[in-house]
Parts: sequence; C-alpha cells; structure tokens
Amino acid sequence: MPACAVSRVNTMSQMLTIALTKGRILEETLPLLKAAGIEPLEDMEKSRKLVFPTNREDVRLLLLRGADVPTYVQFGAADMGISGKDTLMENGAEGLYEPLDLNIARCRLMTAGVKGQQTPAGRIRVATKYVNVTKQYYASLGRQIDVIKLYGAMELAPIMNLADEIVDIVDTGNTLRANGLEPREHIADISSRLIVNKASMKMKHLLIQAIIDPIAKAVSQKA
Ligand code: PRP
Ligand code: MG
Repeated sequence: MPACAVSRVNTMSQMLTIALTKGRILEETLPLLKAAGIEPLEDMEKSRKLVFPTNREDVRLLLLRGADVPTYVQFGAADMGISGKDTLMENGAEGLYEPLDLNIARCRLMTAGVKGQQTPAGRIRVATKYVNVTKQYYASLGRQIDVIKLYGAMELAPIMNLADEIVDIVDTGNTLRANGLEPREHIADISSRLIVNKASMKMKHLLIQAIIDPIAKAVSQKA
C-alpha cells in the first residue's frame, strides 16, 4: 500500500467515503446501499456533481469512472468502493480488500475473433483495453502476442484487420454477433465487488463492518 494512504485516512477518521461508478451499475448499487441505511440526498444520475452527501452525516458518495475506483480506494482517498472484477484484475489489488461479491453486472471476460476465421499460428495481434490481463492470459498459454491498446468499440478491430483477436467483456453476446465475431476462450467470470482500503478496514472497522453486513444480507436474499 502507498505510504500516503494511511495518513490521509487518519485525517478523515470520522467520515466514510464510498466510491461508486457512473452509469448502468449505479442503478443496481443504490438499492444495496439503501439496505445498509445509506441514501444519497439527490439524484446522482441527473446531477453533474461528483461528491454526494447522504442521509447519514458520516457517509458521502463519490461518482467516478469505473477504472478509477480501485485507485481512489488503494490510496485511501475513498474508504470503500464498488468495482468490476475486470477492473480489479487489470488494476491489481494492492492496498485493498475485496470482502464481498455483489453479484451484479455479471458477465464474462473472453477472447473473440471473426466468425469462422482461424486464428493464425505464431505471433498474433490482440486488441483490448485490458492490457495487463491480456498479456498474462496469453503468456499463461505460452502464446506470443502484440497487444494493441484500445479504449472502446474493441469489436471493430478484427473487422478492420487491426487485430487478430480481442479481449473484452461479453454479456448478451449481441455486440459480437452484430459485428460478425464469435466468442472463443473464457478468461474469467466477472461481477461487481465491494472493495475496502486496508488501512480504513483497520481504523474504521466497526463502521465499515456495519455497512458490509446488511449489504451481504441483501445480496444473499437476491440470489
Ligand atoms: C461493452 C463491452 C462489449 C459489450 C458487451 O461495451 O465492451 O462491447 O458491452 O455486451 P453484450 O455482450 O451484451 O453486447 P460498451 O457498450 O460498454 O462500449 P465500449 O466498449 O465502447 O466502452
Ligand atoms: Mg464494448
């Protein structure tokens, strides 16, 4: 864990900050927080704000890009957060605990390529935003690749001959189908996880556990 994380958490010891993700996942996240007695005071989807007070004076919410949630939690700028397993795999888990699978935003991380087209033998090009995961995965198979970093619309890369394969999230499979691609190898099952800064977990243990427990109960009741 970065050395600065502890001191920052210390100065904020009375306040608990939870980092959330903009967009679709927020809809499924808010009922879980509500189960723990935490509700934002305004509609987070409609506001342009990034910090939101809640009905609890000691809890505030941050609205971040998904890829930034682990960073805020690792450095102690947020005590807790909700992050996709894909982001956690890519980012690494240093300085944080992952105590709870929230069982929301479930999908798969997969390789894919043009339907019916054989992957060439030898070194191939793989387009993805998951550069680290992709390098590790192909290395584990002993396959040589060049990674091409993209930020979205990965499905376009094989069609335009930018890459031989992609590594991306597959949910319904509609995006692959609509672009003439097929799923190939399964890399990991993905869902959203509750993450906690390691120093916060020590120093604010009761406060944090009192939030984790009702969320865990709400998750198991939904299953
Ligand atoms: C995500 C993901 C896939 C698609 C998977 O893309 O990157 O492309 O959704 O869902 P599906 O299997 O149900 O079609 P997103 O729409 O978030 O856009 P982006 O990749 O351009 O950011
Ligand atoms: Mg996409």
